[in-house]
Amino acid sequence: MEFGRVGSEFLSGLSTILKSDGILVGKDELLHYGHDETEDLSYPPEVVVRPDTTNEVAAVVRLCSQFGIPVTPIGARTGLSGGALCVHGGVALTLDRMNAIIDIDERNLQVTVEPGVITQVLQEAVAAKGLYYAPDPSSRGSCTIGGNLAENAGGPRAVKYGVTRDFVLNLEVVLPSGEVIWTGANTLKNSTGYDLTRLIVGSEGTLGIITKAVLRLIPLPKENRLMLVPFRSATKACEAVSAVFRAGIVPSALEFMERDALDWTLKFVTGVHVKVEDDTAAHLLIEVDGQYADVVMRDCETILAVMEKHECQEVLFAETNAEKDALWYMRRRVGEAVKSNSVYKEEDTVVPRYELPRLLKGVKDIGARYGFKSVCYGHAGDGNLHVNIIKGDLDDNAWTNELPKAIREIFELTVSLGGTLSGEHGIGLVQRPYMDIAFNSVQLELMKRLKEVFDPLGIMNPGKVLP
Ligand code: LAC
Ligand code: ZN
Repeated sequence: MEFGRVGSEFLSGLSTILKSDGILVGKDELLHYGHDETEDLSYPPEVVVRPDTTNEVAAVVRLCSQFGIPVTPIGARTGLSGGALCVHGGVALTLDRMNAIIDIDERNLQVTVEPGVITQVLQEAVAAKGLYYAPDPSSRGSCTIGGNLAENAGGPRAVKYGVTRDFVLNLEVVLPSGEVIWTGANTLKNSTGYDLTRLIVGSEGTLGIITKAVLRLIPLPKENRLMLVPFRSATKACEAVSAVFRAGIVPSALEFMERDALDWTLKFVTGVHVKVEDDTAAHLLIEVDGQYADVVMRDCETILAVMEKHECQEVLFAETNAEKDALWYMRRRVGEAVKSNSVYKEEDTVVPRYELPRLLKGVKDIGARYGFKSVCYGHAGDGNLHVNIIKGDLDDNAWTNELPKAIREIFELTVSLGGTLSGEHGIGLVQRPYMDIAFNSVQLELMKRLKEVFDPLGIMNPGKVLP
């Protein structure tokens, strides 16, 4: 596909739509918007636009379609699959100024937001009214709802409450034509026609730009308990995960961390102290929540019995809110800690929960054959393991030419176990070459045709998702 380039005529078109401080063309600004959190990739746009309203977004998109210029919607660029990178240049359309919480509807437990609102800001605003927005990616302090919607973000609480998609009722979307639609209705049930809402969520900005979202809320759980459970055997830790559910408990978080993930993070963060025995190989971080302390406590006792049966070491209960915060702070920083340690690649593998031990073992076997080290952690309760492949001493040839074969084997393994390529980080740019492992040509062709229906000119976040 031949795209247009940003020139003076296009820029003067932009200046009729946006205020001058809503158009950025400085070299440093373009570089700043050229990366997200994916590896060390850099794809600067030709211009950054910062619209204030849906109408401005629509006008920019219409202009882009007239000139055949790519337009990539941008959240806070915390993504881990390169979804927000302007790989074909063009326009980076950041939604950072559209960050209002428009309405918290306490009667219906719904909230209407603009896409640029930071996830934690939304969580705190609704918590002040006794309500809960559960999707909770590790980057919640900086990522935005728009980005979460685009990637169908998850996080630790998804195991009990579901991922971003499960909280979406209705979306306002600017289509690649510049037309504006709502995808559904503000109802908890809806069996009216095709489900455009669920299609747009997770479509990584390739079908349109979300400009408003109506999200479902739930009552805020009043009580929670958090425990850190060490194991001598990482396999036993993984085996304990599915046993918790079979014992009748759905925890509000069930996270797995390999020894290195914890060690590297404890070195990376300040102020968190956890004593780890020399022979500990992995930890589970388990949270239970609910409305009644005694029920939460009883659930914890059931979980403890499961852990002991799986030969856990001494369990650490967080006794105070400060201790809980410290453990969660540590868990949220694992990704950054790994990144600060070495060049790495992240695979967001996901399998049916019971297959987790086999996934972990398979990843380690593949690593042993190709000579790479991996640090694994993630949302074990969802069968979602973040496999961080460490460059370490691997030479550039092995990293560039051999590693893709190893990654292919990892994904073939996940699919053979009934899983797929990405649980919550999306396909974006970096997992595209592997889509044929998850889908056959009939499925891929169907997706390609869907994309063409929405975006016949191919200008909306080109170069993403589909191979
Ligand atoms: C996490 C991010 C990397 O689980 O998804 O910390
Ligand atoms: Zn995660």
